[in-house]
Amino acid sequence: MNIVVTGASSGIGYATVLEMVRQKVTRIYALGRNAVKLQQLQNACAAIGDTEVILVECDLTQINFEDLRSVFGENCIDVLINNAGTLVYAPFENISPTDLDLIYKTNVYAPFLLTQLLLPNLKKSKIAHVVNIGSMGGVQGSLKFSGLSVYSSSKAAIAGLSECLAQELKTQGIKVNCLALGAVNTEMLASAFPGYKSEMEPQMMAEYIVDFALKQHKFINGKIVAVSATTP
Ligand SMILES: NC(=O)c1ccc[n+]([C@@H]2O[C@H](COP(=O)([O-])OP(=O)(O)OC[C@H]3O[C@@H](n4cnc5c(N)ncnc54)[C@H](OP(=O)(O)O)[C@@H]3O)[C@@H](O)[C@H]2O)c1
Repeated sequence: MNIVVTGASSGIGYATVLEMVRQKVTRIYALGRNAVKLQQLQNACAAIGDTEVILVECDLTQINFEDLRSVFGENCIDVLINNAGTLVYAPFENISPTDLDLIYKTNVYAPFLLTQLLLPNLKKSKIAHVVNIGSMGGVQGSLKFSGLSVYSSSKAAIAGLSECLAQELKTQGIKVNCLALGAVNTEMLASAFPGYKSEMEPQMMAEYIVDFALKQHKFINGKIVAVSATTP
C-alpha cells in the first residue's frame, strides 16, 4: 500500500507515519517543510520497520503543485492524508490579509490542489481514500473559541470540501472523509490554548487515523467524523 502524508515533520503527522510503518505499509511519501525533522522521522521509521519512506521537503504555500508530479510519477496512491495545517491565534480585528493567506493556503488550497494532482494516482487504487484532517472548531454548531476565526473557518472549508469531493469523485471509486479532531498535545495546541494539556497524545490519535484511513473507506464516505473526547 502506498500512502501520502502531509505535515509529516511533527505532531500528529509524524506519529501517523510511524504508525503506518508499524502497520507495514509498503511506501510512504512524507511531506514536510523541516528537513531535519523529516530526516529524524526517516531514521525512526527505519528502526521499526521495512517501509520505504520517501521524504518530500516542500512548503505547501510556496510550491507549484505540478512540480510534485515527478515525485509520484505513475505510482498508485492508496491513501492521501491531508494533515499539514497551521494556525494564527489573534483577535478578529488584528488578523491581516497575510495571516488569512497563510492559513487558507495551508489548510484549504494545499489539500485542494494536492488531491487534484493525485487523482490519476488514486484512481489506480482499490482503496483510494482521501482523509482530510479537520478540527472540531470547523464543525457547524460546535463550541467556538475566540481568537481562532481564520483557523476554524478554514477547517469548516475543508470539511465542506470533503463532502463535495465525496459526491463528485464517487463514480471514480475515490472516497473522501474529514476527521474533525479535538485537542491533541502538539505545538499547535500549545499555540491555540497556552497552558492547556490534553489527555490525547499524537500517538493515540495516529492509531485512530491510520485505522480509519486503511479500513473505514468501506463503511464511510463524505462524512465529517468528530474525533474528540473533550472540549477543547
Ligand atoms: N493538535 C490539535 O489539538 C489539533 C486539533 C484539531 C486539528 N488539528 C489538525 O491536525 C493537523 C496536524 O496538526 P498538529 O497538531 O500535529 O500540528 P503541528 O505539530 O504544528 O504540525 C503541523 C505540521 O504541518 C506542517 N506544515 C505547516 N505549514 C506547512 C506548510 N506551509 N508547508 C508544509 N507543511 C506545513 C508542519 O511542518 P513544519 O514542521 O515544517 O512546520 C508540521 O509538520 C493540522 O491540520 C491541525 O489543524 C490539530
